[in-house]
Amino acid sequence: MTDEIFVGGGGPDYGTQQHLSLKYANRHGLVAGATGTGKTVTLQILAEGFSAAGVPVFLSDVKGDLSGLAKPGSETHKLHEAFAERAAKIGFDDYGYSAFPVIFWDIFGDQGHPVRTTVSEMGPLLLARLLDLTEAQEGILNIAFRLSDEEGLPLLDLKDLQALLVWTGENAKELSLRYGNVSTASIGAIQRRLLVLENQGGTGLFGEPALALSDLMRTATDGRGQINILAADKLMASPALYATFLLWLLSELFEELPEVGDPDKPKLVFFFDEAHLLFDDAPKALVDKVEQVARLIRSKGVGVYFITQNPADVPDDILGQLGNRIQHALRAFTAKDRKELRMAAQTYRENPAFDTEAAIREVGVGEAVTSMLQKKGVPGIVERTLIRPPSSQLGPVTAAERADLVAASPLQATYTNAIDRQSAYEILQARAEDAAKEAEKAEAEAEEASAAEREFNAGRRYSGTGVPRSTSRRSTRQPDTLGSAVATAVLKELKGTTGRRIVRGILGGLFRGR
Ligand SMILES: Nc1ncnc2c1ncn2[C@@H]1O[C@H](COP(=O)(O)OP(=O)(O)OP(=O)(O)O)[C@@H](O)[C@H]1O
Ligand SMILES: [Mg+2]
Repeated sequence: MTDEIFVGGGGPDYGTQQHLSLKYANRHGLVAGATGTGKTVTLQILAEGFSAAGVPVFLSDVKGDLSGLAKPGSETHKLHEAFAERAAKIGFDDYGYSAFPVIFWDIFGDQGHPVRTTVSEMGPLLLARLLDLTEAQEGILNIAFRLSDEEGLPLLDLKDLQALLVWTGENAKELSLRYGNVSTASIGAIQRRLLVLENQGGTGLFGEPALALSDLMRTATDGRGQINILAADKLMASPALYATFLLWLLSELFEELPEVGDPDKPKLVFFFDEAHLLFDDAPKALVDKVEQVARLIRSKGVGVYFITQNPADVPDDILGQLGNRIQHALRAFTAKDRKELRMAAQTYRENPAFDTEAAIREVGVGEAVTSMLQKKGVPGIVERTLIRPPSSQLGPVTAAERADLVAASPLQATYTNAIDRQSAYEILQARAEDAAKEAEKAEAEAEEASAAEREFNAGRRYSGTGVPRSTSRRSTRQPDTLGSAVATAVLKELKGTTGRRIVRGILGGLFRGR
Protein backbone atom coordinates (compact mmCIF):
# COMPACT_ATOMS: atom_id res chain seq x y z
CA MET A 1 0.00 0.00 0.00
CA THR A 2 1.13 3.50 -0.79
CA ASP A 3 1.31 6.50 1.47
CA GLU A 4 -0.30 8.84 -1.02
CA ILE A 5 -3.17 9.17 -3.45
CA PHE A 6 -2.61 10.00 -7.07
CA VAL A 7 -4.68 13.03 -7.99
CA GLY A 8 -3.49 14.08 -11.43
CA GLY A 9 -0.68 15.69 -13.43
CA GLY A 10 0.66 19.21 -12.93
CA GLY A 11 3.60 21.26 -14.08
CA PRO A 12 4.51 21.89 -17.70
CA ASP A 13 2.44 19.62 -19.99
CA TYR A 14 0.77 18.10 -16.92
CA GLY A 15 3.64 15.62 -16.66
CA THR A 16 4.44 16.07 -12.95
CA GLN A 17 2.37 13.73 -10.81
CA GLN A 18 0.41 15.34 -8.01
CA HIS A 19 -0.45 13.43 -4.87
CA LEU A 20 -2.45 13.82 -1.72
CA SER A 21 -0.41 12.57 1.20
CA LEU A 22 -2.31 10.10 3.40
CA LYS A 23 -0.39 11.26 6.43
CA TYR A 24 -1.92 14.71 6.08
CA ALA A 25 -5.26 13.63 4.70
CA ASN A 26 -6.83 14.17 8.14
CA ARG A 27 -5.99 17.86 7.84
CA HIS A 28 -9.08 18.23 5.79
CA GLY A 29 -9.73 19.55 2.35
CA LEU A 30 -11.75 21.61 -0.04
CA VAL A 31 -13.10 20.83 -3.49
CA ALA A 32 -14.58 23.91 -5.09
CA GLY A 33 -15.57 25.15 -8.52
CA ALA A 34 -18.41 26.49 -10.60
CA THR A 35 -21.06 24.14 -11.89
CA GLY A 36 -19.87 21.59 -14.44
CA THR A 37 -16.17 22.10 -13.79
CA GLY A 38 -15.40 18.63 -12.40
CA LYS A 39 -16.10 18.60 -8.65
CA THR A 40 -18.06 15.37 -8.66
CA VAL A 41 -15.49 13.48 -10.69
CA THR A 42 -12.79 14.79 -8.34
CA LEU A 43 -14.83 13.50 -5.42
CA GLN A 44 -15.11 10.17 -7.22
CA ILE A 45 -11.38 9.80 -7.83
CA LEU A 46 -10.55 10.85 -4.27
CA ALA A 47 -12.98 8.25 -2.93
CA GLU A 48 -11.37 5.65 -5.21
CA GLY A 49 -7.92 6.66 -4.03
CA PHE A 50 -8.78 6.49 -0.33
CA SER A 51 -10.59 3.19 -0.75
CA ALA A 52 -7.64 1.69 -2.63
CA ALA A 53 -5.40 2.82 0.23
CA GLY A 54 -7.62 1.00 2.73
CA VAL A 55 -9.35 4.13 4.04
CA PRO A 56 -13.14 3.98 4.42
CA VAL A 57 -15.05 6.90 2.99
CA PHE A 58 -18.40 8.51 3.67
CA LEU A 59 -19.97 10.73 1.04
CA SER A 60 -23.33 12.17 0.21
CA ASP A 61 -24.51 11.73 -3.34
CA VAL A 62 -26.42 14.89 -4.05
CA LYS A 63 -27.23 14.34 -7.71
CA GLY A 64 -27.24 10.57 -7.67
CA ASP A 65 -24.23 10.36 -9.97
CA LEU A 66 -21.73 8.73 -7.62
CA SER A 67 -23.27 5.26 -7.43
CA GLY A 68 -21.08 4.39 -10.43
CA LEU A 69 -18.28 3.85 -7.90
CA ALA A 70 -19.73 0.36 -7.44
CA LYS A 71 -19.11 -0.58 -11.09
CA PRO A 72 -15.97 -0.64 -13.20
CA GLY A 73 -15.67 1.86 -16.04
CA SER A 74 -16.07 0.40 -19.50
CA GLU A 75 -14.35 0.51 -22.86
CA THR A 76 -17.73 1.02 -24.42
CA HIS A 77 -18.40 4.16 -22.33
CA LYS A 78 -18.62 7.22 -24.51
CA LEU A 79 -15.74 8.85 -22.64
CA HIS A 80 -13.42 5.84 -22.81
CA GLU A 81 -11.18 7.48 -25.43
CA ALA A 82 -11.11 10.78 -23.58
CA PHE A 83 -10.20 9.04 -20.34
CA ALA A 84 -7.40 7.03 -21.97
CA GLU A 85 -6.01 10.17 -23.57
CA ARG A 86 -6.13 12.05 -20.29
CA ALA A 87 -4.44 9.15 -18.49
CA ALA A 88 -1.64 9.09 -21.06
CA LYS A 89 -1.14 12.83 -20.80
CA ILE A 90 -0.57 12.73 -17.06
CA GLY A 91 1.58 9.60 -17.13
CA PHE A 92 -1.05 7.43 -15.43
CA ASP A 93 0.47 4.24 -16.83
CA ASP A 94 -1.41 1.63 -14.86
CA TYR A 95 -4.79 3.23 -15.47
CA GLY A 96 -7.52 0.64 -15.73
CA TYR A 97 -11.14 0.08 -14.83
CA SER A 98 -12.29 -1.36 -11.53
CA ALA A 99 -15.25 -1.37 -9.16
CA PHE A 100 -15.08 -0.36 -5.51
CA PRO A 101 -16.69 -1.78 -2.38
CA VAL A 102 -19.74 0.43 -1.96
CA ILE A 103 -22.44 0.43 0.70
CA PHE A 104 -25.56 2.43 -0.03
CA TRP A 105 -27.41 4.30 2.70
CA ASP A 106 -30.65 6.23 2.54
CA ILE A 107 -32.48 8.10 5.26
CA PHE A 108 -35.71 7.23 3.49
CA GLY A 109 -34.71 3.58 3.15
CA ASP A 110 -35.49 3.46 -0.59
CA GLN A 111 -32.08 3.49 -2.21
CA GLY A 112 -29.96 1.89 0.47
CA HIS A 113 -29.87 0.71 4.04
CA PRO A 114 -31.95 2.98 6.24
CA VAL A 115 -29.82 5.28 8.38
CA ARG A 116 -31.42 5.74 11.73
CA THR A 117 -30.64 7.48 14.94
CA THR A 118 -32.73 7.95 18.03
CA VAL A 119 -34.29 11.23 19.10
CA SER A 120 -32.30 11.16 22.32
CA GLU A 121 -29.05 10.57 20.46
CA MET A 122 -29.69 13.55 18.27
CA GLY A 123 -30.27 15.62 21.39
CA PRO A 124 -32.48 18.65 22.02
CA LEU A 125 -30.21 21.22 20.49
CA LEU A 126 -29.60 19.72 17.09
CA LEU A 127 -33.27 18.82 17.03
CA ALA A 128 -34.19 22.41 17.84
CA ARG A 129 -32.13 23.53 14.88
CA LEU A 130 -33.66 20.87 12.69
CA LEU A 131 -37.14 22.01 13.69
CA ASP A 132 -36.16 25.66 13.52
CA LEU A 133 -37.51 26.34 17.00
CA THR A 134 -37.55 29.64 18.82
CA GLU A 135 -35.67 30.01 22.07
CA ALA A 136 -38.84 29.53 24.11
CA GLN A 137 -39.77 26.40 22.18
CA GLU A 138 -36.25 25.09 22.57
CA GLY A 139 -36.63 25.56 26.32
CA ILE A 140 -39.71 23.33 26.27
CA LEU A 141 -37.86 20.73 24.24
CA ASN A 142 -35.11 20.75 26.86
CA ILE A 143 -37.68 20.14 29.57
CA ALA A 144 -39.19 17.29 27.57
CA PHE A 145 -35.78 15.65 27.26
CA ARG A 146 -35.20 16.03 30.97
CA LEU A 147 -38.59 14.54 31.72
CA SER A 148 -37.75 11.65 29.46
CA ASP A 149 -34.72 10.90 31.63
CA GLU A 150 -36.47 11.42 34.92
CA GLU A 151 -39.64 9.57 34.08
CA GLY A 152 -37.92 6.68 32.32
CA LEU A 153 -39.56 7.44 28.99
CA PRO A 154 -37.00 6.67 26.29
CA LEU A 155 -37.16 8.93 23.24
CA LEU A 156 -36.39 6.73 20.27
CA ASP A 157 -38.63 7.76 17.41
CA LEU A 158 -40.77 10.78 16.55
CA LYS A 159 -43.93 9.28 17.98
CA ASP A 160 -42.16 9.01 21.33
CA LEU A 161 -41.45 12.71 21.18
CA GLN A 162 -45.03 13.45 20.12
CA ALA A 163 -46.37 11.38 23.00
CA LEU A 164 -44.08 13.03 25.50
CA LEU A 165 -45.12 16.47 24.28
CA VAL A 166 -48.76 15.53 24.67
CA TRP A 167 -48.05 14.35 28.18
CA THR A 168 -46.10 17.52 28.91
CA GLY A 169 -49.08 19.54 27.67
CA GLU A 170 -51.49 17.60 29.85
CA ASN A 171 -49.34 18.28 32.87
CA ALA A 172 -48.32 21.79 31.88
CA LYS A 173 -49.71 23.33 35.03
CA GLU A 174 -47.78 21.14 37.44
CA LEU A 175 -44.66 21.27 35.30
CA SER A 176 -44.81 25.06 35.11
CA LEU A 177 -44.57 25.23 38.88
CA ARG A 178 -41.26 23.43 38.66
CA TYR A 179 -39.68 24.55 35.42
CA GLY A 180 -41.17 27.94 34.80
CA ASN A 181 -43.75 28.62 32.16
CA VAL A 182 -44.49 25.49 30.15
CA SER A 183 -46.67 27.14 27.58
CA THR A 184 -49.11 24.94 25.74
CA ALA A 185 -48.87 27.32 22.79
CA SER A 186 -45.16 26.54 22.52
CA ILE A 187 -45.85 22.83 22.82
CA GLY A 188 -48.36 23.14 20.02
CA ALA A 189 -45.83 24.98 17.89
CA ILE A 190 -43.25 22.20 18.38
CA GLN A 191 -45.86 19.60 17.50
CA ARG A 192 -46.62 21.42 14.28
CA ARG A 193 -42.92 21.60 13.42
CA LEU A 194 -42.70 17.88 14.05
CA LEU A 195 -45.48 17.32 11.57
CA VAL A 196 -43.52 19.26 8.98
CA LEU A 197 -40.49 17.11 9.69
CA GLU A 198 -42.60 13.98 9.34
CA ASN A 199 -43.93 15.19 6.02
CA GLN A 200 -40.38 15.71 4.85
CA GLY A 201 -39.69 12.07 5.57
CA GLY A 202 -37.97 12.64 8.89
CA THR A 203 -39.91 9.79 10.48
CA GLY A 204 -37.58 7.24 8.94
CA LEU A 205 -34.48 8.88 10.37
CA PHE A 206 -35.55 8.36 13.95
CA GLY A 207 -35.75 4.87 15.30
CA GLU A 208 -33.82 1.69 15.72
CA PRO A 209 -31.59 -0.09 14.92
CA ALA A 210 -29.52 3.07 15.15
CA LEU A 211 -26.51 3.37 12.90
CA ALA A 212 -23.34 1.90 14.40
CA LEU A 213 -20.40 4.05 13.40
CA SER A 214 -18.24 0.97 13.11
CA ASP A 215 -20.39 -0.05 10.14
CA LEU A 216 -19.17 3.04 8.30
CA MET A 217 -15.56 2.23 9.00
CA ARG A 218 -15.21 -1.20 7.52
CA THR A 219 -12.71 -2.47 5.03
CA ALA A 220 -13.55 -5.08 2.42
CA THR A 221 -11.92 -8.53 2.56
CA ASP A 222 -9.34 -7.37 0.01
CA GLY A 223 -8.30 -4.57 2.37
CA ARG A 224 -9.87 -1.71 0.45
CA GLY A 225 -11.85 0.84 2.39
CA GLN A 226 -15.62 0.70 2.20
CA ILE A 227 -17.19 3.62 0.34
CA ASN A 228 -20.42 4.65 2.06
CA ILE A 229 -22.74 6.53 -0.24
CA LEU A 230 -25.65 8.39 1.29
CA ALA A 231 -28.46 8.93 -1.20
CA ALA A 232 -29.04 12.65 -0.92
CA ASP A 233 -31.02 13.53 -4.03
CA LYS A 234 -34.38 13.44 -2.27
CA LEU A 235 -32.84 14.61 0.98
CA MET A 236 -31.71 17.84 -0.66
CA ALA A 237 -35.33 18.93 -0.81
CA SER A 238 -35.03 19.40 2.96
CA PRO A 239 -31.73 21.24 3.33
CA ALA A 240 -32.07 21.52 7.11
CA LEU A 241 -32.54 17.78 7.46
CA TYR A 242 -29.57 17.18 5.18
CA ALA A 243 -27.22 19.57 6.95
CA THR A 244 -28.33 18.57 10.44
CA PHE A 245 -27.97 14.90 9.67
CA LEU A 246 -24.41 15.29 8.41
CA LEU A 247 -23.57 17.53 11.33
CA TRP A 248 -24.97 14.96 13.70
CA LEU A 249 -22.87 12.28 12.05
CA LEU A 250 -19.75 14.40 12.39
CA SER A 251 -20.44 15.10 16.04
CA GLU A 252 -21.05 11.39 16.70
CA LEU A 253 -17.75 10.51 15.05
CA PHE A 254 -16.07 13.15 17.11
CA GLU A 255 -17.61 11.87 20.29
CA GLU A 256 -17.28 8.15 19.81
CA LEU A 257 -13.92 7.70 18.17
CA PRO A 258 -10.79 7.37 20.27
CA GLU A 259 -7.87 9.78 20.01
CA VAL A 260 -5.27 8.48 17.61
CA GLY A 261 -2.99 11.49 17.28
CA ASP A 262 -1.51 11.66 13.80
CA PRO A 263 -2.12 8.32 12.09
CA ASP A 264 -0.28 7.20 8.92
CA LYS A 265 -3.58 7.38 7.13
CA PRO A 266 -7.07 8.52 8.15
CA LYS A 267 -9.53 6.17 9.84
CA LEU A 268 -12.31 7.68 7.77
CA VAL A 269 -12.70 10.43 5.24
CA PHE A 270 -15.94 12.36 5.27
CA PHE A 271 -17.04 14.34 2.22
CA PHE A 272 -19.54 17.08 2.91
CA ASP A 273 -21.13 17.96 -0.43
CA GLU A 274 -23.15 21.16 -0.88
CA ALA A 275 -21.34 22.41 2.18
CA HIS A 276 -22.81 25.88 1.79
CA LEU A 277 -26.07 24.48 3.19
CA LEU A 278 -24.32 23.99 6.49
CA PHE A 279 -23.33 27.61 6.67
CA ASP A 280 -26.29 29.40 5.09
CA ASP A 281 -27.84 31.52 7.85
CA ALA A 282 -25.96 29.53 10.44
CA PRO A 283 -25.58 31.41 13.73
CA LYS A 284 -22.02 32.39 14.62
CA ALA A 285 -22.05 29.95 17.52
CA LEU A 286 -22.74 27.07 15.16
CA VAL A 287 -19.99 28.11 12.79
CA ASP A 288 -17.63 28.29 15.77
CA LYS A 289 -18.70 24.80 16.72
CA VAL A 290 -18.08 23.38 13.26
CA GLU A 291 -14.72 25.10 13.32
CA GLN A 292 -13.95 23.48 16.64
CA VAL A 293 -15.12 20.04 15.53
CA ALA A 294 -13.00 20.29 12.40
CA ARG A 295 -9.98 21.19 14.48
CA LEU A 296 -10.49 18.45 17.05
CA ILE A 297 -11.72 15.61 14.87
CA ARG A 298 -8.36 15.53 13.13
CA SER A 299 -6.77 13.75 16.06
CA LYS A 300 -9.47 11.11 15.83
CA GLY A 301 -8.17 10.34 12.38
CA VAL A 302 -11.13 11.75 10.48
CA GLY A 303 -10.52 13.92 7.44
CA VAL A 304 -13.36 16.23 6.43
CA TYR A 305 -13.60 17.48 2.87
CA PHE A 306 -16.01 20.25 2.01
CA ILE A 307 -17.37 20.44 -1.52
CA THR A 308 -18.96 23.65 -2.63
CA GLN A 309 -19.18 25.89 -5.65
CA ASN A 310 -17.51 28.90 -4.16
CA PRO A 311 -14.87 28.85 -1.43
CA ALA A 312 -16.41 32.09 -0.18
CA ASP A 313 -19.34 29.92 1.02
CA VAL A 314 -17.08 28.52 3.72
CA PRO A 315 -16.39 30.79 6.71
CA ASP A 316 -12.77 31.94 6.95
CA ASP A 317 -12.00 30.17 10.21
CA ILE A 318 -13.00 26.87 8.68
CA LEU A 319 -11.45 27.56 5.29
CA GLY A 320 -8.18 28.18 7.10
CA GLN A 321 -8.23 24.58 8.31
CA LEU A 322 -8.74 22.96 4.94
CA GLY A 323 -5.19 22.01 4.04
CA ASN A 324 -5.68 20.00 0.86
CA ARG A 325 -7.32 21.97 -1.91
CA ILE A 326 -8.62 21.25 -5.34
CA GLN A 327 -9.98 24.43 -6.83
CA HIS A 328 -11.75 23.99 -10.15
CA ALA A 329 -12.62 26.96 -12.31
CA LEU A 330 -14.46 29.92 -10.85
CA ARG A 331 -16.33 32.35 -13.04
CA ALA A 332 -15.86 36.05 -12.54
CA PHE A 333 -18.84 37.84 -13.99
CA THR A 334 -19.53 40.45 -11.35
CA ALA A 335 -17.38 42.72 -9.22
CA LYS A 336 -18.22 40.53 -6.24
CA ASP A 337 -17.12 37.41 -8.16
CA ARG A 338 -13.82 39.07 -9.00
CA LYS A 339 -13.23 40.08 -5.43
CA GLU A 340 -13.96 36.58 -4.17
CA LEU A 341 -11.74 35.09 -6.84
CA ARG A 342 -8.87 37.34 -5.77
CA MET A 343 -9.41 36.39 -2.14
CA ALA A 344 -9.47 32.70 -3.03
CA ALA A 345 -6.24 33.07 -5.02
CA GLN A 346 -4.50 34.83 -2.15
CA THR A 347 -4.87 31.84 0.12
CA TYR A 348 -2.45 29.79 -2.00
CA ARG A 349 1.34 29.61 -2.03
CA GLU A 350 2.32 31.31 -5.31
CA ASN A 351 3.85 29.34 -8.12
CA PRO A 352 6.30 31.55 -10.09
CA ALA A 353 5.25 29.76 -13.26
CA PHE A 354 1.78 31.28 -13.39
CA ASP A 355 -0.65 33.72 -11.86
CA THR A 356 -2.96 31.89 -9.45
CA GLU A 357 -5.93 34.17 -9.97
CA ALA A 358 -5.78 33.85 -13.75
CA ALA A 359 -5.32 30.09 -13.47
CA ILE A 360 -8.45 29.67 -11.33
CA ARG A 361 -10.38 31.54 -14.00
CA GLU A 362 -8.88 29.63 -16.92
CA VAL A 363 -8.59 25.99 -15.94
CA GLY A 364 -10.64 23.65 -18.11
CA VAL A 365 -13.19 21.04 -17.12
CA GLY A 366 -11.55 18.33 -15.02
CA GLU A 367 -8.61 20.58 -14.41
CA ALA A 368 -7.90 22.42 -11.17
CA VAL A 369 -5.60 24.64 -9.21
CA THR A 370 -4.34 22.34 -6.49
CA SER A 371 -2.34 22.60 -3.32
CA MET A 372 -1.73 19.62 -1.04
CA LEU A 373 -0.10 19.54 2.35
CA GLN A 374 3.56 18.54 2.13
CA LYS A 375 6.15 17.51 4.68
CA LYS A 376 5.46 18.83 8.17
CA GLY A 377 2.00 19.82 7.00
CA VAL A 378 3.19 22.83 5.02
CA PRO A 379 0.91 23.76 2.09
CA GLY A 380 2.48 22.88 -1.24
CA ILE A 381 3.07 25.41 -3.98
CA VAL A 382 0.00 25.82 -6.11
CA GLU A 383 -0.15 23.73 -9.31
CA ARG A 384 -2.32 23.58 -12.37
CA THR A 385 -3.38 19.97 -12.33
CA LEU A 386 -5.21 17.85 -14.85
CA ILE A 387 -7.26 15.57 -12.61
CA ARG A 388 -6.99 11.85 -13.32
CA PRO A 389 -9.91 10.03 -14.92
CA PRO A 390 -12.04 7.71 -12.76
CA SER A 391 -11.55 3.93 -12.72
CA SER A 392 -15.13 3.23 -11.77
CA GLN A 393 -18.11 4.05 -13.94
CA LEU A 394 -18.78 7.72 -14.64
CA GLY A 395 -22.47 8.27 -13.97
CA PRO A 396 -24.99 6.29 -11.93
CA VAL A 397 -25.73 2.58 -11.91
CA THR A 398 -29.28 1.63 -12.86
CA ALA A 399 -31.97 1.26 -10.21
CA ALA A 400 -31.94 -2.51 -10.76
CA GLU A 401 -28.16 -2.72 -10.35
CA ARG A 402 -28.44 -0.67 -7.21
CA ALA A 403 -31.15 -2.87 -5.76
CA ASP A 404 -28.97 -5.93 -6.40
CA LEU A 405 -26.01 -4.31 -4.67
CA VAL A 406 -28.11 -3.38 -1.64
CA ALA A 407 -29.58 -6.89 -1.44
CA ALA A 408 -26.10 -8.42 -1.56
CA SER A 409 -24.68 -6.05 1.08
CA PRO A 410 -23.16 -7.61 4.20
CA LEU A 411 -25.13 -5.07 6.27
CA GLN A 412 -28.49 -5.93 4.77
CA ALA A 413 -29.54 -8.15 7.66
CA THR A 414 -28.55 -5.61 10.31
CA TYR A 415 -30.41 -2.56 9.11
CA THR A 416 -33.30 -3.52 6.90
CA ASN A 417 -35.98 -4.12 9.50
CA ALA A 418 -36.90 -1.45 11.97
CA ILE A 419 -37.24 -2.42 15.60
CA ASP A 420 -39.92 -0.74 17.68
CA ARG A 421 -38.79 -1.10 21.23
CA GLN A 422 -40.84 -0.19 24.26
CA SER A 423 -40.29 3.54 24.61
CA ALA A 424 -42.06 6.75 25.60
CA TYR A 425 -44.98 6.27 23.23
CA GLU A 426 -45.72 2.71 24.32
CA ILE A 427 -45.15 3.44 27.99
CA LEU A 428 -47.41 6.48 28.01
CA GLN A 429 -50.03 4.61 26.07
CA ALA A 430 -49.89 1.75 28.55
CA ARG A 431 -50.16 4.22 31.41
CA ALA A 432 -53.15 5.88 29.83
CA GLU A 433 -54.77 2.49 29.32
CA ASP A 434 -54.04 1.50 32.90
CA ALA A 435 -55.50 4.74 34.11
CA ALA A 436 -58.60 4.24 32.00
CA LYS A 437 -59.01 0.68 33.27
CA GLU A 438 -58.49 1.83 36.81
CA ALA A 439 -61.11 4.51 36.39
CA GLU A 440 -63.50 2.02 34.85
CA LYS A 441 -62.90 -0.40 37.66
CA ALA A 442 -63.43 2.33 40.23
CA GLU A 443 -66.65 3.32 38.57
CA ALA A 444 -67.89 -0.26 38.46
CA GLU A 445 -66.96 -0.75 42.08
CA ALA A 446 -68.69 2.45 43.08
CA GLU A 447 -71.74 1.35 41.23
CA GLU A 448 -71.66 -2.07 42.85
CA ALA A 449 -71.21 -0.47 46.24
CA SER A 450 -74.15 1.82 45.85
CA ALA A 451 -76.23 -1.05 44.49
CA ALA A 452 -75.31 -3.03 47.59
CA GLU A 453 -76.23 -0.08 49.69
CA ARG A 454 -79.57 0.18 47.96
CA GLU A 455 -80.11 -3.54 48.43
CA PHE A 456 -79.17 -3.19 52.06
CA ASN A 457 -81.41 -0.21 52.49
CA ALA A 458 -84.18 -2.11 50.79
CA GLY A 459 -83.92 -4.52 53.68
CA ARG A 460 -82.96 -7.56 51.59
CA ARG A 461 -80.20 -10.00 52.47
CA TYR A 462 -76.84 -9.01 51.11
CA SER A 463 -74.54 -11.89 50.25
CA GLY A 464 -71.68 -10.10 48.45
CA THR A 465 -68.21 -10.47 49.83
CA GLY A 466 -66.23 -7.52 50.95
CA VAL A 467 -67.00 -4.77 48.50
CA PRO A 468 -64.42 -2.12 49.09
CA ARG A 469 -65.79 1.31 49.70
CA SER A 470 -62.76 3.35 49.03
CA THR A 471 -62.49 3.33 45.29
CA SER A 472 -60.91 6.51 44.04
CA ARG A 473 -57.31 5.31 43.88
CA ARG A 474 -55.06 7.05 41.43
CA SER A 475 -52.47 4.78 39.97
CA THR A 476 -50.93 6.99 37.29
CA ARG A 477 -47.70 8.61 38.20
CA GLN A 478 -48.16 12.28 38.68
CA PRO A 479 -45.58 14.85 37.72
CA ASP A 480 -45.37 15.89 41.35
CA THR A 481 -43.20 12.82 41.89
CA LEU A 482 -40.39 14.64 40.12
CA GLY A 483 -37.64 15.52 42.51
CA SER A 484 -37.25 19.22 43.10
CA ALA A 485 -33.50 18.75 42.91
CA VAL A 486 -33.96 17.92 39.26
CA ALA A 487 -36.06 20.97 38.75
CA THR A 488 -33.35 23.14 40.21
CA ALA A 489 -30.77 21.48 37.99
CA VAL A 490 -32.85 22.03 34.88
CA LEU A 491 -33.50 25.63 35.77
CA LYS A 492 -29.81 26.13 36.23
CA GLU A 493 -29.09 24.54 32.92
CA LEU A 494 -31.70 26.57 31.15
CA LYS A 495 -30.61 29.83 32.64
CA GLY A 496 -26.91 29.10 32.80
CA THR A 497 -24.60 30.83 30.40
CA THR A 498 -21.38 29.10 31.24
CA GLY A 499 -19.07 28.16 28.41
CA ARG A 500 -19.97 24.53 28.83
CA ARG A 501 -23.63 25.12 28.37
CA ILE A 502 -22.98 27.12 25.23
CA VAL A 503 -20.82 24.31 23.97
CA ARG A 504 -23.53 21.77 24.71
CA GLY A 505 -26.04 24.20 23.40
CA ILE A 506 -24.93 24.11 19.84
CA LEU A 507 -24.39 20.54 18.91
CA GLY A 508 -26.47 18.86 21.52
CA GLY A 509 -24.70 15.65 22.32
CA LEU A 510 -21.38 16.87 21.11
CA PHE A 511 -19.78 17.16 24.49
CA ARG A 512 -22.17 14.83 26.18
CA GLY A 513 -21.05 13.73 29.57
CA ARG A 514 -18.25 16.21 29.89
N1 LIG B 1 -11.14 14.16 -13.86
C1 LIG B 1 -11.88 14.04 -14.95
N2 LIG B 1 -11.57 13.16 -15.90
C2 LIG B 1 -12.32 13.03 -17.00
N3 LIG B 1 -13.43 13.73 -17.24
C3 LIG B 1 -13.81 14.64 -16.33
C4 LIG B 1 -13.06 14.84 -15.14
N4 LIG B 1 -13.66 15.79 -14.41
C5 LIG B 1 -14.75 16.17 -15.11
N5 LIG B 1 -14.85 15.50 -16.27
C6 LIG B 1 -15.92 15.65 -17.27
O1 LIG B 1 -16.68 16.82 -16.94
C7 LIG B 1 -18.04 16.49 -16.66
C8 LIG B 1 -18.58 17.37 -15.55
O2 LIG B 1 -17.89 17.09 -14.35
P1 LIG B 1 -18.63 17.01 -12.93
O3 LIG B 1 -19.92 16.31 -13.06
O4 LIG B 1 -17.64 16.45 -12.00
O5 LIG B 1 -18.87 18.54 -12.66
P2 LIG B 1 -19.43 19.22 -11.31
O6 LIG B 1 -18.49 20.32 -10.96
O7 LIG B 1 -19.68 18.20 -10.31
O8 LIG B 1 -20.78 19.84 -11.82
P3 LIG B 1 -22.09 20.21 -10.97
O9 LIG B 1 -21.80 21.47 -10.25
O10 LIG B 1 -23.09 20.41 -12.06
O11 LIG B 1 -22.38 19.05 -10.10
C9 LIG B 1 -17.99 15.01 -16.34
O12 LIG B 1 -19.22 14.40 -16.61
C10 LIG B 1 -16.88 14.49 -17.23
O13 LIG B 1 -17.37 14.28 -18.54
MG1 LIG C 1 -21.42 17.60 -9.33
